[in-house]
Amino acid sequence: MFYITTAIDYTNGAPHIGHAYEKVLADVLARWHRMCGEETYLLAGVDQHGQKVQQKAEAAGIGPLQYAQEVTLKFVELWKRLGIAYDGWAATSDPRHERCVQKILTALRDKGCLYKKSYKGFYSVRQEQFLTDKERGQDGQFGPEWGEVIELEEENWYFNLTAHIPWLRQFVTSHPEVVTPEFRRQDLLMAIERSTNDLCISRPKNRLSWGIPLPFDPDFVTYVWFDALINYISFAGYESGGDATLPDFKRLWPAACEVIGKDILIPAHGIYWLCMLHAMGFADEEMPRLLVHGWLNIKGEKMSKSLGNIVDPQELCDHFGAEALRYYLVRDTKTGYDSDYDPERLRMIYNSELANDLGNLANRSLNMCMRYCNATLHTPSGDDEPSAALRQSLLQAEATFIEQMNAYNTSDALGALHAHVSLCNGYIEQKQPWALAKDPQKAEELQRVLYHLLESVLHVGFLLGCVLPEASGRLLGQLQVDVAGLTPQSLAWGILKEGHQVQAPSPVFPRILTPEEKEKMAAKAAAKAAKNNA
Ligand code: ME8
Ligand code: MG
Repeated sequence: MFYITTAIDYTNGAPHIGHAYEKVLADVLARWHRMCGEETYLLAGVDQHGQKVQQKAEAAGIGPLQYAQEVTLKFVELWKRLGIAYDGWAATSDPRHERCVQKILTALRDKGCLYKKSYKGFYSVRQEQFLTDKERGQDGQFGPEWGEVIELEEENWYFNLTAHIPWLRQFVTSHPEVVTPEFRRQDLLMAIERSTNDLCISRPKNRLSWGIPLPFDPDFVTYVWFDALINYISFAGYESGGDATLPDFKRLWPAACEVIGKDILIPAHGIYWLCMLHAMGFADEEMPRLLVHGWLNIKGEKMSKSLGNIVDPQELCDHFGAEALRYYLVRDTKTGYDSDYDPERLRMIYNSELANDLGNLANRSLNMCMRYCNATLHTPSGDDEPSAALRQSLLQAEATFIEQMNAYNTSDALGALHAHVSLCNGYIEQKQPWALAKDPQKAEELQRVLYHLLESVLHVGFLLGCVLPEASGRLLGQLQVDVAGLTPQSLAWGILKEGHQVQAPSPVFPRILTPEEKEKMAAKAAAKAAKNNA
């Protein structure tokens, strides 16, 4: 089982391009594993509790649940549009999740992992949080961003995190596969050395009511991160008491891949989450694996409300199409590293790799097959050097694709397919099928060329299915092949059989026009209409 989860998105604002990148990455990986014939379960969802949601709801004059649900809808709509095929949906206000969180809290308390203590410190009324020395400015004071700062004494519940740190250090040191990429595991190891405090897991109800009540102390709700992290197991059926609406936990767990952004590795996933699982009694081999991606920035800067540079993925879908956006996100970002969102690059990469290279290859090959061979393919007899090189190139591209996808390197995987497509276009120029078609002596060579081209389109179109499900379906439809039961590992030369019939092509990757190109097209159309009317 390949159980893959994603971070659950905060419902304190609309989804942005960073959210979209993460979900597309996870969906591409899930589709990849499904395509390989592995049983796969993708969990996505929303993180609905916490201070920020409560504040936004108050400002909007509605209840926190209603507010969270309205924002949730925006995420759901976006995932539908982007073709995110999740199998399970985690929403933390779901009673099934709340029950699970409460069971875990009770069990941890019974085991002696939780304790109540009083804490006295400086508290920012505006930010509603305790401040530490880290928040002090260079002058030793708390800056104006914190508003009024008062000294406050508060009782809360704590999780004995530090008791699990020696285990965590040993575990992360001896299990390099637990965090990808490796440099993030090194960051985590350093952060573990700095982990010297237990984790406060409650908030008094009188300052935050929008959370899961502690089952053993009704004056408190659960700290949002403690609640949120549990989604990965609650929605996988942990302690569900046989609830048939949830999966069978034993079949899903441990997660093969938890896809998260770099900002929530330390301390949330790398420290809190692993220690929470350890405290619950999970063994080393039952720990999840974390895939940590980088951030999408805008012209090198972090997206932020104050800079006004937040990119709305729905607008990009309107403008470029959902699949163009999917391709761009996983092609132009090296998994694990930051990248810049740049609409100009989106247009360029889509136009060159899909519209020009793959789209033209498919169109030309199908058209020539219609025109010169009555839409019928023949398995090649005889061989020549360029054709042998093409088969070799395809083999290489497929091996690289499989290897890179398994290593989460979507960009290099797609780059390998594109390299083969380029080679095919070069092969057309070299072979000049239109010239071969004029010479009856060259009929056999013409058949061979068309066969090599269309067999390539078939393989590439099939593999692209995990990134571009719709376009892949259309390409395979025009080739009239049924790929049911086919896996990347079983792909071999010669899927197209003697006498195979293809369809006339219709473009799968229309070019994305620049505003200037659009204007020109519109002007041309207007001129034509005027001429017709005259
Ligand atoms: O952190 N580029 O929610 P969130 C790429 N609710 N990824 C980005 C990004 C960007 N610019 N900005 C955010 C939370 N992300 C918690 C998670 S999990 C139990 C709880 C990623 O809505 C971010 O790293 O702030 C995270 O993985 C996800 O989007 C949700 O971020
Ligand atoms: Mg965040």
